[in-house]
Amino acid sequence: GAPVEADVGKLAPGEMMTVEWRGKPVWILRRTPEMLASLDQTESVVSDPESNKQMQPEYAKNKTRSIKPEYLVAVGICTHLGCSPSEKFKVGAESGMGDDWHGGFLCPCHGSRFDLSGRVYKSMPAPDNLEIPPHKYLSDTKILIG
Ligand code: FES
Repeated sequence: GAPVEADVGKLAPGEMMTVEWRGKPVWILRRTPEMLASLDQTESVVSDPESNKQMQPEYAKNKTRSIKPEYLVAVGICTHLGCSPSEKFKVGAESGMGDDWHGGFLCPCHGSRFDLSGRVYKSMPAPDNLEIPPHKYLSDTKILIG
């Protein structure tokens, strides 16, 4: 499939957009400072915090799983059986996910939880973190996926 260009110029902090690449939804989430800080809090509850499994290109093998920390670019398909996880960006009791929820994604099919870097929580049906697709920045606001 051909690479797809995404313009993130209109994305406000905390907002997410979806583009289609090779028939798959690719999420682009512009993370706020609070969202980025939550990654320190989920570090101990996710199963592959350092992304040692091959679920991302080398240049995205870091805590934020990204080139620029502000932008998460991830394939929005659960690594269990391929459902599409839902955004659960509210935190704490307000989230309905429990007091200690720091924001992330919930798979509606069998309940796998992912943090705001797409890292899967421990003991979930999904075996791996969400996939980070190959991508690069063409400019400050243009991302080429694929
Ligand atoms: Fe997502 Fe099963 S498909 S938890």
